[in-house]
Amino acid sequence: MIISTQLSQLDEIIAIENISFEKPWTRSQIKDDIQANINSENWVFIEDEKVVGYIFGWIIQNEFHLYNIAVHPNHQRKKIARKLIQHIILRVAIQKVNVILLEVSVNNISARKCYQSLGFIQTGIRKDYYSKGDDAILYNLEIN
Ligand SMILES: CC(C)(COP(=O)(O)OP(=O)(O)OC[C@H]1O[C@@H](n2cnc3c(N)ncnc32)[C@H](O)[C@@H]1OP(=O)(O)O)[C@@H](O)C(=O)NCCC(=O)NCCS
Repeated sequence: MIISTQLSQLDEIIAIENISFEKPWTRSQIKDDIQANINSENWVFIEDEKVVGYIFGWIIQNEFHLYNIAVHPNHQRKKIARKLIQHIILRVAIQKVNVILLEVSVNNISARKCYQSLGFIQTGIRKDYYSKGDDAILYNLEIN
């Protein structure tokens, strides 16, 4: 089940964030994002009453910027990320968004395969973008 993110889910989200990323968002970054931005689209995937994945992003004019997506390692490869992204596509398409943008490390094969399987197209590369010196790959998905 996909529901809108609640502040009460912060601890569960942070736990997944911390095991998913080498440089996780901080508690205050995630909290501010849940609370503040009126153009944000923040959704969680619930299974057995627990948060097992989430997707965060912002609508900026006709673009949706997908900033964060993660699924708990015990729940991966069950199409949860796919369902979260498909949910976002439906949500933003009715808000005059016509493109979803994201960037991902060149070495994040699982995420890249996930985006490609949904039709995202590689549009560019940012050299040495991440702290370890990894390049970022830019992806677009045109909708509407
Ligand atoms: C990337 C991530 C969100 C995918 O979540 P998921 O729920 O396991 O993905 P899905 O089950 O929806 O997979 C959809 C498709 O993505 C691809 N995919 C996902 N994980 C993969 C893996 N480990 N290896 C190869 N392909 C993979 C497959 O094509 C898959 O379809 P299939 O299962 O029919 O083959 C998850 O691996 C994750 O949380 N990673 C850590 C955080 C992260 O890197 N986030 C992205 C930052 S940009």
